[in-house]
Amino acid sequence: MMLEVQDLRKYFPVRGGVMMRVIGHVKAVDGVSISIEKGEVFGLVGESGSGKTTLGRTVLKLTEPTGGRIIFDGRDITDLSGKELIPLRREMQIVFQDPYKALHPRKRVKDIVGEPLIIHEGASDTEVRKRVAEMLKLVGLNVEHMDRYPHEFSGGQRQRIVIARALILRPKFMVLDEPTSALDVSVQAKILNLLSDLKEQFDLTFLLISHNLAVVQHMSNRIGVMYLGKLMEVAPSQELFEKPLHPYTKALISAIPIPDPKLAKKKRKMTLRGEIPSPLHPPSGCRFHTRCPFAKEICEREEPPLREVEPGHWVACHFWDELREVGVLNA
Ligand SMILES: Nc1ncnc2c1ncn2[C@@H]1O[C@H](COP(=O)(O)OP(=O)(O)OP(=O)(O)O)[C@@H](O)[C@H]1O
Ligand code: SF4
Ligand SMILES: [Mg+2]
Repeated sequence: MMLEVQDLRKYFPVRGGVMMRVIGHVKAVDGVSISIEKGEVFGLVGESGSGKTTLGRTVLKLTEPTGGRIIFDGRDITDLSGKELIPLRREMQIVFQDPYKALHPRKRVKDIVGEPLIIHEGASDTEVRKRVAEMLKLVGLNVEHMDRYPHEFSGGQRQRIVIARALILRPKFMVLDEPTSALDVSVQAKILNLLSDLKEQFDLTFLLISHNLAVVQHMSNRIGVMYLGKLMEVAPSQELFEKPLHPYTKALISAIPIPDPKLAKKKRKMTLRGEIPSPLHPPSGCRFHTRCPFAKEICEREEPPLREVEPGHWVACHFWDELREVGVLNA
């Protein structure tokens, strides 16, 4: 197992009043358990504010967990800090959404991509040039790009630079947080293909985060659907699309545009009403009940646990079985 997360929580204190006392907590991640196998791509989806980025940052210990355990490559890293984390930083990397913000504007590509080699290995300039050149080729850039500055590149090329930097130390595990969301549609597929190729070449394991199910669909082996800090459903990718068991998943699938109007007409749609509630005051019982067209009285009172209802298929809904029987969640 590459990563095992048990009952992970991350609460952010909220301050208010004249004394700026803590008046509550944003429960950005509220009891999430997942395990990701070596070589697997685990897709994590959910609307804006559901806690995806917080989960990604917490598993890498870029932010301290409030509770739960993180086991990385067989080692419990929950309580590691400072120096103890340095060797692990090589093995786990993150790629963020915005390649414009991720790159230092006054540094050359060679220094941006090569910096981790100097920090972690004390590599010489000749060594850095050699390895940066190799890496640039692997991500589809040229050796000549080495001495240029970020502003001379397109968004897609910048994301390639970000990826080159993340890969230069040969990590085992990467969190890809909306890696294509800031890019033109035409470039998105190219970057996803590149990531797929690199994954095979470098034996990587990915946690792929996106608000867009279509982005994670093709690349992920399994997908987890998050809502207000909790997982609503986890299933193998194809199964999740063909047989969603949670109304929220169904709504996310319905939101994917279908280019063919004839096919689009045939599809059974489910649209979500309202906005995602504030994670400062999540709804009682099932957090999705304020927006769920199938909610009954018990949903407001009792929280449905995430249960494995078929091998590898987990769902947190009181009525998953009934909904499946009547076929309302079918494609
Ligand atoms: N440092 C922080 N301090 C306080 N609240 C935070 C902090 N970081 C995130 N939050 C809150 O935690 C919740 C989850 O945020 P997060 O960024 O993890 O969501 P997300 O699913 O990644 O959303 P998006 O799709 O917009 O990136 C939000 O309500 C957000 O406002
Ligand atoms: S538990 Fe109730 S409110 Fe929640 S998803 Fe299921 S039917 Fe909807
Ligand atoms: Mg995010």
